[in-house]
Amino acid sequence: MSPDNALLPAELHERLLENPAHWLVTGVAGFIGSNLLEALLRAGQRVTGIDNFSTGFRRNLDEVRALVGDQAWARFRFMEGDIREDAACRDVCTGVDYVLHQAALGSVPRSIDRPVDSFDSNVSGFVRIMTAARDAGVKRFVYASSSSVYGDSPELPKVEDRIGKPLSPYAATKFVDEVFAEVYARTYGMQCAGLRYFNVFGPRQDPDGAYAAVIPRWIASLVRGSQVAINGDGETSRDFCFVANAVQANVLAALAPALPAGHEAFNVAVGERTTLNQLFGLIRERVARERPEAGAVVPRFAEFRAGDVRHSLADIGKAESMLGYAPTHRLGQGLDAAMGWYLR
Ligand SMILES: NC(=O)c1ccc[n+]([C@@H]2O[C@H](COP(=O)([O-])OP(=O)(O)OC[C@H]3O[C@@H](n4cnc5c(N)ncnc54)[C@H](O)[C@@H]3O)[C@@H](O)[C@H]2O)c1
Repeated sequence: MSPDNALLPAELHERLLENPAHWLVTGVAGFIGSNLLEALLRAGQRVTGIDNFSTGFRRNLDEVRALVGDQAWARFRFMEGDIREDAACRDVCTGVDYVLHQAALGSVPRSIDRPVDSFDSNVSGFVRIMTAARDAGVKRFVYASSSSVYGDSPELPKVEDRIGKPLSPYAATKFVDEVFAEVYARTYGMQCAGLRYFNVFGPRQDPDGAYAAVIPRWIASLVRGSQVAINGDGETSRDFCFVANAVQANVLAALAPALPAGHEAFNVAVGERTTLNQLFGLIRERVARERPEAGAVVPRFAEFRAGDVRHSLADIGKAESMLGYAPTHRLGQGLDAAMGWYLR
């Protein structure tokens, strides 16, 4: 990692410093978006960001500002706005070289409760921002897809060109995004890269609310001394990916040489599988170093969650060979890096 940028490998940080560009980060006040913002500002880039604060927070932007300092912050322009509005999309795409599109409503359960909301932001908003990016002539449109597109395919590890049927409205939205990106590449000659994130975690991921992801929720519960519930028998497994790996993949996908097919989807993960029972043990051990009473907490087992896939593991060979992606953090290293933030 770069000593000046804990989110990027040193050579990528240096490459950015030597090539200043203008980036649009949508969903910039969210978890992954604010980490992208931090990494890009630290690496001398100019950034425009948009967010409607539906699931993101002003406090994430305040934290990045404090971390990067006022001089770097002056290279950031923020618009509070919504990607479901064409005028806002046109405004933020003006003069941009690379788009890193993160804005969407995450969470499988949220999409089962409110499918139309997920559709509006994740599909309608997606097509609007991609259209504005096309009209602005951006060099590349990189966007957040999801491992959920693998749906009911039992095959492990997951390889990009073999997906199953979507198991939730959320998965359907991400699948449709990939179809649109491919069509925009073919029809308008756009350069697009879809990043299929596998359970990303790290600082600024919201631990609260009904739709919180498992790692921040469990850390927060253990820190607060409250009960932890595991959905199902705990043998469900995931390929947990620290946010620095996702940041690296975004920057590499933007800067990669021309994609001959115009559009490619890439798995973004570590390529290692961990069960929820194992994950609980790893988190409990780390929290107990600071809060010894957490060491005695035993989880409660609850119902399996609708729409969840049983096992997930990525083959990351395509991102490695086409983008030069090399994850810098395995699960344990990522948990160590994230823990300080959650304890604070
Ligand atoms: N975190 C993960 O493990 C994971 C896994 C797979 C895919 N993803 C995808 O990665 C992206 C970022 O996820 P995250 O974990 O940072 O979630 P997040 O909720 O923290 O960030 C999403 C951001 O987008 C903003 N947003 C939502 N709808 C918007 C709209 N209509 N207009 C403007 N802003 C809007 C939210 O306010 C929020 O700040 C999403 O597209 C998500 O679906 C995340």
